[in-house]
Amino acid sequence: MAGNITLTMIKPMAVHKGFIVPILDKINKGGFQIIALKMVWMNKPEARVFYKNLKDKPFFNSLIRFMTSGPIVVAILRKENAVEEYRKLIGSTDPKKAEVGTIRREYASSIEKNAVHGSDSDENAIIESDFFFSKIERFGLEDLA
Ligand code: CMP
Repeated sequence: MAGNITLTMIKPMAVHKGFIVPILDKINKGGFQIIALKMVWMNKPEARVFYKNLKDKPFFNSLIRFMTSGPIVVAILRKENAVEEYRKLIGSTDPKKAEVGTIRREYASSIEKNAVHGSDSDENAIIESDFFFSKIERFGLEDLA
């Protein structure tokens, strides 16, 4: 059965350009519940851990420099089949190939500065959510008075 959470990061360039609110609005309108949210500025060791699966890629060092160049907004999103549904909402990694109306098509600057991250599997959604958020930083709507 598909999982119901995914982890997103609004990346430094999108934060710098003032796209936090429009991106969160698209996430809301896409039917995702935001169950954890914060702004952080990763250091290089942290970013290397987050992206450890990409350490052999030629763009790895550049990606780490970019992802530590400024603050990011991280969130855990909840929806049925969240990983796949969110990847549809954000569009292709390369914004030039992303469909009109997707977050990357509207807010990305390049394949590296592609506005947002979305987990690529249910397993990674859990690993990535645990990387950024402790248990007391997560709230479902059912927790709210
Ligand atoms: P993200 O969803 O965060 O997952 C890995 C990131 O690596 C990706 O978004 C891009 O920011 C970056 N990336 C993937 N492919 C390339 C590429 N060919 N050149 C530069 N950066 C890339």
